[in-house]
Amino acid sequence: MNYTQVTENHINQFKQIVGEEFVLTDKESLDNAAHDETEDHHFPPEVVIKAGNAQEIADIMKICNEHIIPVVPRGGGTGLSGGALPLKRGVVISTERLNRILYIDEQNLQATVEPGVITQVFQETVKEKGLFYPPDPSSRGTCFLGGNLGENAGGPKAVKYGVTRDYVINMEVVLPSGDIIWTAANVLKNSTGYNLTQLMIGSEGTLGIITKIVFKLRSYPQKDVTLLVPFTTSEEACRAITAVYMAGVTPSGMEFMEREAIERTMKYLDETLSDPVSIDLPDGINAHLLIELDGNDDEVLMRDAEKIMATLEGFDTGEISFADTAQQKAELWKVRRNVSPAVNAYSLTKAEDVVVPRANLPALITAIKDIGREYTFNSVCYGHAGDGNLHINVMKEQLPDDYWHKEVNEGIAKIFEKVVELGGTLSGEHGIGIAKRPYMHLAMSDVNLNLMRGIKKVFDPNGILNPEKIF
Ligand code: LAC
Ligand code: ZN
Repeated sequence: MNYTQVTENHINQFKQIVGEEFVLTDKESLDNAAHDETEDHHFPPEVVIKAGNAQEIADIMKICNEHIIPVVPRGGGTGLSGGALPLKRGVVISTERLNRILYIDEQNLQATVEPGVITQVFQETVKEKGLFYPPDPSSRGTCFLGGNLGENAGGPKAVKYGVTRDYVINMEVVLPSGDIIWTAANVLKNSTGYNLTQLMIGSEGTLGIITKIVFKLRSYPQKDVTLLVPFTTSEEACRAITAVYMAGVTPSGMEFMEREAIERTMKYLDETLSDPVSIDLPDGINAHLLIELDGNDDEVLMRDAEKIMATLEGFDTGEISFADTAQQKAELWKVRRNVSPAVNAYSLTKAEDVVVPRANLPALITAIKDIGREYTFNSVCYGHAGDGNLHINVMKEQLPDDYWHKEVNEGIAKIFEKVVELGGTLSGEHGIGIAKRPYMHLAMSDVNLNLMRGIKKVFDPNGILNPEKIF
């Protein structure tokens, strides 16, 4: 596809639409839009536009569609698959000014928001009304809800409450044609034709730009219990997860962390953030499960905790600790949420996000470490193991650049092949973007990929939206 370069004339038109101060071409603004949290990529756009409403975005889209200029929507820039990177340059539309929570409908347990609202701000705002928005990616303090929809973000609570897509019932979208549509209605059931809402979620900004979102919410659970369980091996920890579910318990968090994940994160919290947390790591302990139960009834929670303790008796664990205070709980979750930044602060990484049926996790962990030995790379594994969703941070450390770009990618392809063999797929919550795009054929047949290409063509016949992503 041949794209048109942005000219002075286009820039002037954009300025007329959004106002001069919101059209940015200075080096710093372009550099800021050139990366997300994925590896060390750098793809600056030609212009960054901070649009103020859907109509402005529609007017920009019309110009770009007519002149075949790439348009890439951008949220908080925390993505882990390169979804927001303007590979073909062109226009980045930042949603940072679209940051209003428009309406909280307490009667219907719904909220209407703009896509530039920070996830944690939204969670805390609805919590004040006793309402609960469960999706909680680790980046929730800085990521935007629009980006969460784009990649279908998850987080620890997904294991009980589901991922972003399970909470979206309707949205306003600007299409490349400049049309502005609502995808559905603000209702909890809907069998009215194809589900355009769900099609947009996880489409990584390749089909349209989301300008309003209607979420459904839950009531906030009043109580929770948190336990940290040490295991002798990662495989043992992963086997225990399956047993907990078979015992009939549904935790609200079931997170796995390898020993090195905790070690690196404690060091990072202490040395880089000066915010230390101490977790005892005796010799012989190589993995942990961080388990949370939530609900509204102490007795039910205690009964479930006892079931978990009884189940764990059959496994090779160290001493199990309960977090008694809110502070202890917060510290454990602080460690968990900071694994990714900690590992990335230590070494350049390729962050994988594979997912397999839960009971196949032990086999997956064994294979990952075997492949790592074969290709001489070290990896830190952690993640939402209750969902079978494992993050594998492959670390560059001292590996030479050419080896990192060639042999390490071959090793990662082997991991993906194993994942597919185990009934799994490439991404549970980070998306495909550019990072997993070379591997899509491992998980999808040509027929599947052609269906996706066909859908893309219907929405975006000129291919202006977020080029070179997913497939
Ligand atoms: C996490 C992010 C990396 O689970 O998805 O911490
Ligand atoms: Zn995650």
